[in-house]
Order: sequence, then C-alpha cells, then structure tokens
Amino acid sequence: MSAFPPGFTWGVATSAYQIEGAVAEAGRTPSVWDTHCARPGAIADGGTGEIACDHYHRWPADLDLLAGLGAGAYRFSVSWPRIQPDPSGRANPAGLDFYDRLVDALAERGITPVVTLFHWDLPQWLQDAGGWPDRDTAARFADYAALVAGRLGDRAGVWTPVNEMFEHCLLGHLTGEHAPGLTRPLEDCFAVAHHLLLAHGLAVRALRATVPAPIMAVNSYAPARAGSAADAELAGLYDGLQNRLFTDPLLLGRYPAEFEPLAAPWLRDGDLEVIASPIDLLGVNYYSINAVRASDGPVPLEVVPPAGYPVTASGWAVAPDGLTETLRTLRDRYGDALPPMVISENGCAFGDTLAGGRCADPDRVAYLEAHVGAVREALAAGIDVRGFYVWSLLDNFEWAEGYTRRFGLVHIDYPTQTRTPKSSYHWYRNFIASQSG
Ligand code: FCB
Repeated sequence: MSAFPPGFTWGVATSAYQIEGAVAEAGRTPSVWDTHCARPGAIADGGTGEIACDHYHRWPADLDLLAGLGAGAYRFSVSWPRIQPDPSGRANPAGLDFYDRLVDALAERGITPVVTLFHWDLPQWLQDAGGWPDRDTAARFADYAALVAGRLGDRAGVWTPVNEMFEHCLLGHLTGEHAPGLTRPLEDCFAVAHHLLLAHGLAVRALRATVPAPIMAVNSYAPARAGSAADAELAGLYDGLQNRLFTDPLLLGRYPAEFEPLAAPWLRDGDLEVIASPIDLLGVNYYSINAVRASDGPVPLEVVPPAGYPVTASGWAVAPDGLTETLRTLRDRYGDALPPMVISENGCAFGDTLAGGRCADPDRVAYLEAHVGAVREALAAGIDVRGFYVWSLLDNFEWAEGYTRRFGLVHIDYPTQTRTPKSSYHWYRNFIASQSG
C-alpha cells in the first residue's frame, strides 16, 4: 500500500457537549443543548450531556489515549457558555483556563490542537436574546472568537469557526430534532443560514487579525440520489441545501441561484464579502450517501439509505465511494476557488459491546479502512487532501440519539467511565505508525 504524502495529518475529532459533562462547573451556564435535553422525548434514551464522558475531569487520561494512538492532531470544540456565561459577554477566566491547559497538554504530547469554536452549543442566554434567527448573534460570535483567540491564539494549530452549518440550521430550526428544537418554515431558516455564514466570516476576520494559524471551514457533505425518477427535483433541493448552500457563499461569494430569493431578506451590503473571506482549508465531514424521497411530513422530503448498501447502527449507508465522489465533486464544482481539503470527520456507529475486557469492532475497522482507501483514490486523482480525522475518540453523547450510538475508537462504560480501546483503536494506531515510517 503506497504511503500518504509526507505531512498528511492523521487525527481524531470530538466536541465539547458530547464529551465534557461538568455542565454547571467553573462558571459554565446552560447551552441550548442542556435545555433541549430537558424536554421530554427530545433525546432517544432520555440522555443528557450532564456527565457524558466526564472528559472535563478525565482529560489527561483522554489525551494519553490520543498520544497512545500516535495522533498528529486533535480536533475538539470550545464550549461557548464556559467562555461567556452571561449576557455581559465578559470572559470567564476559569473557562479559558480549561482549554489553555488542554492546549498545553496537547503540545506536551506532540499533538496539534485543532480548535472548533462552535459545535452547536449556543449559550442559552444568547438563544433567549434571539439565537441564530437574530443577526446580532453573528456579531456576538466574533467577540467570542476574539476572546478565545486572545488566550489560545499563540498555540492553536488550526481554527474552525463553525461545525456543520447545515445540520445546526435545519435539524435545530426546521425539524426541531436538535437544539434549540425550533420547527420554523424553511423560509425562516434562511435567516439562521445567513447568520451562521456571517458569523463564520466575521470570526475569520477577527481571527486573521490576531492569529497566524490556518483557518478551516467545516461542512458536512453527502451525495444525493433520487429515490425514484419522480423524486429527482427533491433530490436536487436536498443537494442544494446539504452540499451547496453553505459552501457556495464561502468559496464563491454568492448563494446558489435557487436560494438567492430566500436569502435576500437577510442580506446586507458587504455581507457576502465578509462570508467569502479567504480560508486556508475546507473541512469535509463525510459519513454516507443519501437517497431522497417525498414525505408528507412538515418537510417535503426525507433521506434514507439507498437500496443495496449495508448500513451502520445509525441506519446510514456504508458508501466509501461516496467520499471519493464528494471530493471530486467539490474539486470540479469549485476549481481554483477550492482550498486544500481535510476529512474533518469520518466514522460510524455500531453496536459495540465489551467481552472479557475487550471490545472487538471489525465493522468499524472495515469502514475506516475503506474510507481511508477512498481518500487515497482521491489523492491519486490529483485532489489535494491534507488530513483525515476519525469521528470519534470516545463513545459519546450522540445528540438526539443520546447514548444509543457508539462512534468511538475507545469504548466508554458510562456507569464506571471505564475507557477500553476497541480493536479499531489498535488498527488506527498501527496504521498511523505504518505511515510515519
Ligand atoms: C456529525 C457531527 C458530530 C457527530 C457525528 C456523528 O454530524 O458533527 O458531532 O454527531 O455527526
């Protein structure tokens, strides 16, 4: 097997609300996810992020797991309500201290910190003030970005302003499956979309003013197949929302033509220039491909696995070819406007169990091997990909699915918080070692 290019980054990714717990410690106030989890029926197993993986207390051991893996980089997110716990916007020193220690401890282990500023846990006070439907939230985000950059800016290796705008926008504000749990008409969600994009652009400008490290936008991508010929138009709509709405403005400085009228009410002079502020990397979160078919629910379409594919425990099609296709499509669609790409998340949930103190997860090993192979194919086709991050280091709180989905390279026994590296952890460690030799 030919090696990946020298300098290719092998990492893992997590996010704050999914692993940290300690939701009321050291001055943190609730996020929209704490509020959402308290709604009866919102989370599959009634789970919350109150304890999660208790990473807030166990982070040194978790960083040792990362070091044991030989990971070159760790993509984590900062919990906004730890940093700005109230409407005054004042920085909470204890919140900044936590990430300061984390970044130093990563450096001690030779691991590059990749800092995501917003992985969906908006402070509840900011939601109460209007949340993402309100333009002012974008300006508040830039203030928050500047605070974090002021503390970590000399040591963070890569900055990501916002994780996956599509999911946060539509699952959080259209279907209501995610926090803040709103079910607004699609037209109203364009305010959220525009303000997330604007927040990204304002944060890019705030970061550029003070930090030298590269900036990476992170979106999720999934090729869309029409469930039947009659669904072709819906598949086009879905493709536009998932794959272009949050990328065309970033890279081309314009909305896809079909969405321009919907974005127009929220657009002010100069916004598109801010949104298209140059970035250094495009992060591609890739899990699956989707078939699109009509639905008579509040949203006219639903996505399902295309026929003939095996599925993960999340019911997502295992389709490594879709990753190569995604990378090719991005290259063909954006050409010179496309910066180098990074697979910023890839992984899968399976029903992993412990037996005799071990956790064998051959399906995950096969999934990761196949997706790494898909990246190799893209590289062979001349596509510029610089890194690959497995989602996720630990089993964790999988949003609306609670603790019913295990995505980790490391198994968590939640009652005891025991960490057990799965066979995929050992596979990834050996694979990374084979690449550095
Ligand atoms: C992505 C999210 C991440 C995790 C994975 C499974 O959409 O960014 O937090 O939930 O899916």
